Amino acid sequence: MKSKAAIPAALILAATGWLTWQGSIVSSAVAGDETARTTAALGIISAHGVSDGAKYVGSNKCKMCHMKQTKSWKKTKKFHAIDALKPGNADDVKTKHGLDPTKDYSTDAACVKCHVTGFGQPGGYAMHDGTDKKVAKKMKKLANIGCEMCHGPGSAYVALHTELLKTKRKYKVEEMYAAGMYKIDETVCTKCHNANSPTIDSGVPFDFKAMKEKGTHDHFKLKQREE
Ligand code: HEC
Ligand code: HEC
Ligand code: HEC
Ligand code: HEC
Repeated sequence: MKSKAAIPAALILAATGWLTWQGSIVSSAVAGDETARTTAALGIISAHGVSDGAKYVGSNKCKMCHMKQTKSWKKTKKFHAIDALKPGNADDVKTKHGLDPTKDYSTDAACVKCHVTGFGQPGGYAMHDGTDKKVAKKMKKLANIGCEMCHGPGSAYVALHTELLKTKRKYKVEEMYAAGMYKIDETVCTKCHNANSPTIDSGVPFDFKAMKEKGTHDHFKLKQREE
């Protein structure tokens, strides 16, 4: 955590701009029916008791303070999870599971919902036709399984993290959870790693411990956290 001073104010301004902008397009995300189904399927808000006001802020907002985790995450398939939905990627997997490898599934909400960040949620990924360059640019940053899919929508807890950076005080992890950060257990992963995934190896149970080691990012020691 080498970054100092100046950051917090700039961060808050940037975050506010982002959220305001995002807010204006999210309402037109997907037909209500699909949004409702997705919300239920992903269970993001209800399952973790995050306040209804929590919004996705995007992984770029975490990067400035968590560079090492970000670099490591960028090496995982999570960083470009939408690519698997495009023709020419994982063709053998698609064929094996009865999907059409020539079809572009990256515009199909039924697939996209598990391959992006915060699908249909405030501040999260929304379907778009690519004609609005500004929208396309924002959506590109959310077209992956970002930090917030495992740690929770950032608007709930980034202010606390910012304060921790500023004060350098010690904290207990419970404080993070109280602010809306997810406590990561198996249910965080099985929102997507479940039988609704058309490519899942049915019959093979989700091995949380092994998958956690393989599928998140490298871990680094926290300096301010008290055990
Ligand atoms: C319920 C969430 C969910 C939905 C819906 C979903 N996926 Fe996925 N997808 C996953 C998960 C989790 C994985 C990784 C493990 C696995 O294969 O289940 C994955 C992996 C894949 C892979 C393999 C990528 C690779 O690198 O091997 C392809 C291809 C894929 N999905 C295509 C699709 C398509 C096409 C659709 C829509 C018809 C779709 N997915 C819908 C969750 C989902
Ligand atoms: C938002 C949906 C979603 C959530 C939440 C999620 N995953 Fe995934 N995961 C995917 C998809 C989609 C893929 C396939 C990406 C691809 O192959 O392009 C994947 C791939 C993986 C892989 C293979 C990746 C690789 O780089 O080889 C592992 C391991 C994994 N996930 C572990 C986890 C664990 C552990 C959690 C919970 C802590 C988790 N996932 C949470 C959707 C999700
Ligand atoms: C697929 C799930 C997943 C994604 C995506 C993910 N993390 Fe994590 N992260 C974890 C898990 C699991 C831990 C271990 C702590 C735990 O079990 O509560 C962790 C721990 C951390 C920690 C604590 C220190 C450490 O290194 O262990 C930080 C900081 C962190 N993540 C930041 C990020 C950032 C920033 C991103 C995005 C660039 C991100 N994470 C993306 C699952 C994820
Ligand atoms: C302004 C800087 C800043 C930003 C932005 C920020 N964090 Fe943090 N975060 C911190 C600090 C400081 C800590 C405590 C680090 C320590 O103890 O060494 C922390 C701790 C964490 C932890 C570990 C919590 C624990 O005790 O297990 C996770 C996970 C995490 N942040 C994820 C994120 C994610 C995801 C985002 C983006 C949505 C984010 N942070 C944005 C500064 C920040």
